[in-house]
Amino acid sequence: MLFNYKYFGGALLALAAVCAHAQDEIKVGVVAPFSGPFAAYGKQMEDGIKTYQKLHGDTVAGKKVVFLIRDTTGPVPELAKRLSQELIIRDKVDFLAGYGFTPEALASAPVAQQAKIPMIVMNAAGTTVVEKSRYAVRFSNTLPQVASPMGRWAFNQGIKTAVTLVADFIPGHEAEQGFIKSFKAAGGQIVESIRVPLDSKDLTPFIQRIKDRNPQGVFMWLPAGDMTISFAKRFRERGLASAGIKLVATGDLTDDHLLPSLGDDGLGLVTTYHYSMNHDSPENREFVKTFQEVNPDAGRPNFMTVAAYDGTAAIYEVIRKLDGKMDGPKAMDILSNMKMMSPRGPIHIDPKTRDIVQTVYVRRVERVKGELENVEFDKYDNIDASGN
Ligand code: PHB
Repeated sequence: MLFNYKYFGGALLALAAVCAHAQDEIKVGVVAPFSGPFAAYGKQMEDGIKTYQKLHGDTVAGKKVVFLIRDTTGPVPELAKRLSQELIIRDKVDFLAGYGFTPEALASAPVAQQAKIPMIVMNAAGTTVVEKSRYAVRFSNTLPQVASPMGRWAFNQGIKTAVTLVADFIPGHEAEQGFIKSFKAAGGQIVESIRVPLDSKDLTPFIQRIKDRNPQGVFMWLPAGDMTISFAKRFRERGLASAGIKLVATGDLTDDHLLPSLGDDGLGLVTTYHYSMNHDSPENREFVKTFQEVNPDAGRPNFMTVAAYDGTAAIYEVIRKLDGKMDGPKAMDILSNMKMMSPRGPIHIDPKTRDIVQTVYVRRVERVKGELENVEFDKYDNIDASGN
């Protein structure tokens, strides 16, 4: 019988080398849209990860931390789920991360739960994401967290009647309810609640409907991107701003990354949010400067970049505390009690919910040294995921 021992031995050696190499690595699967209309989401997260690695290196507790990027082209929940499964089964990742859209995170959460793999949510802001899996922990924000403070603030500014307009999917519904709850509790009256399909190309009919209702204010939530820009433009073109109708929103509308495209339509807009590139702190200055060094053509860091940066900091902390020996339940214990000084300000994870608690700022778009920026001028400290 012919058996080539020399060849077989060589193959074994090569295999051993691969295994040794794999043991020196911690793998993180990043699931987000990297193509399609929301391709910017994935890119912003990737840039946040790169910014963290530029400042803190790619190795912790002797392990190289490697990020495997997977494109959902999304929002496509089934694909996000399949990619998460493949990352666990085929690539043997130690963490899942990313998740730009709530429906993608919701579809993937049970997969993380079953495999006991920590899932670091870097955007998806629907509250139920962390309820779907004991292995999900959020480093971004929730919609009620950023929308509720706006209900209070708008009423205190003299807006007594309002129309809400949101995208008709989970995050939109939660933003709407978050605003309505606190606006009504303060004494405000909702004139109409409009929900628009996520793929709406023309928002003009909806904007005309708001104009016909003639409320004192409009609260809107649409996913940051072409829709938010188009809404702000139509709002002005159709004469709502000049009719004295006040537009208020969460910071998705005045996303730092999009502000240059929003241009003068953004000037003066007041939004509530957890991150502004303009936030004045040493941590943020270092973050913004490093982001610009890592990728000088990437534009501006935004809420997704900072959530990915903090999520990466959390991953490093887990690896450090476990001395590189990954263990799902132990990792979740550490993640559920995480506290850190983020570029956005102090953040911590509520161990009961695995959701983020943070400061929500009230900001106005102003021109600072020739550039449009979200300038913070008021804040609500320690706001939890439910907006309280
Ligand atoms: C979400 O799906 O949770 C989502 C999408 C876009 C945003 C914010 C949240 O701008």
